[in-house]
Amino acid sequence: MKWPTHGANPQFLYKALHLDMPETVIDFSANINPIGPPATVKNRWNELFSLVSDYPDPTAERLTGLLSKQEGVRKEQILVGNGGAELISLVGRLLTGKKVLIVQPAFSEYEEACRVNQCEVRYHLMDVDRWELRIDELLVSLREVDAVFLCNPNNPTGMFFPKHTIEVLARECARYGTLLIVDEAFYDFIEEYESIVSCLQHCENMIILRSMTKMFSIPGIRLGYLMANEALLAKIRESKPHWSVNAIAMKVGEWCLSESDYIEQTIQLIKKERERLQSFYRDQEFSYSPSNVNFYLLKDTKVSDPFPFFRFLMEKGMIPRHTMNFPGLDGKWLRLAIKGENEHERLLEVMSAWRRLDS
Ligand SMILES: Cc1ncc(COP(=O)(O)O)c(C=O)c1O
Repeated sequence: MKWPTHGANPQFLYKALHLDMPETVIDFSANINPIGPPATVKNRWNELFSLVSDYPDPTAERLTGLLSKQEGVRKEQILVGNGGAELISLVGRLLTGKKVLIVQPAFSEYEEACRVNQCEVRYHLMDVDRWELRIDELLVSLREVDAVFLCNPNNPTGMFFPKHTIEVLARECARYGTLLIVDEAFYDFIEEYESIVSCLQHCENMIILRSMTKMFSIPGIRLGYLMANEALLAKIRESKPHWSVNAIAMKVGEWCLSESDYIEQTIQLIKKERERLQSFYRDQEFSYSPSNVNFYLLKDTKVSDPFPFFRFLMEKGMIPRHTMNFPGLDGKWLRLAIKGENEHERLLEVMSAWRRLDS
């Protein structure tokens, strides 16, 4: 069977499993803010129509200026892209033919972007039994490669490595001339996030990737940005299609940057729901990853074959993300997004029904 390579678009998963898609489903396979886009986006939607007939600003000057203020870096250090996904593929191009280490399990696009650019791909596997990075071994392995990808907060585990860990990695990468790429697509879900942007000052060889589609619930619009030193960024920019970021995405992005209350409300909602789910899972003897963000890994410890559990959830319209293409997980876990109270009422009913089956 050919498993879909990403979450979202659940029709492909049902098709692959030869299952009929129920009329109502809840998609836990995409890690998007359950609140939906900020109210401003809806309220000002009509203003976007006036942008449709002009070419977008290929330099995204206004948005870049706002990001530069927010992050405390020069405009020349920021590249706005058509989602984090476009920026990852540009980084892949930069790495053509190089040796690249990917800290796994991680977002599958890193490997995809490297392979199409003839990179030699190596893995550093995190210890998912202990939920540890195994940093000592990572520090040794990164000496032997040209670049290392770290997803932090980590997709799919939801774990977060603090600034200190990144500083240690950045220092070691600087020593050996290894490019460190830190994907912070979910950084804004971390309650006590401490910015690593200052590392760019000491580390020439560092790229920080951000997505705006998760927190602001705009995956259909596509928006992300990358930060690096000016020379490196200029090189990455060379391969970017001229108008790849559309005018609507840029304008929505500008609005989203002043939504600090919305971010805080999201963080609190996710925290409350995460604690509620974890309490249920503990009582019912499911295992879960120590997530700090809006998704987590889940496993039924009472069964050895995870597939019937996965299929049961799908049949009930609760769509998890399979982990078949996450090295180190190999399908043993399921990844689920954290959503709102109503969705979780339904999810926990279905989980309870599953538990009753084996009692
Ligand atoms: C870790 C990570 N990075 C980057 C992306 C790309 O996000 P987008 O292209 O929607 O900005 C994703 C999407 O799921 C992701 O999980």
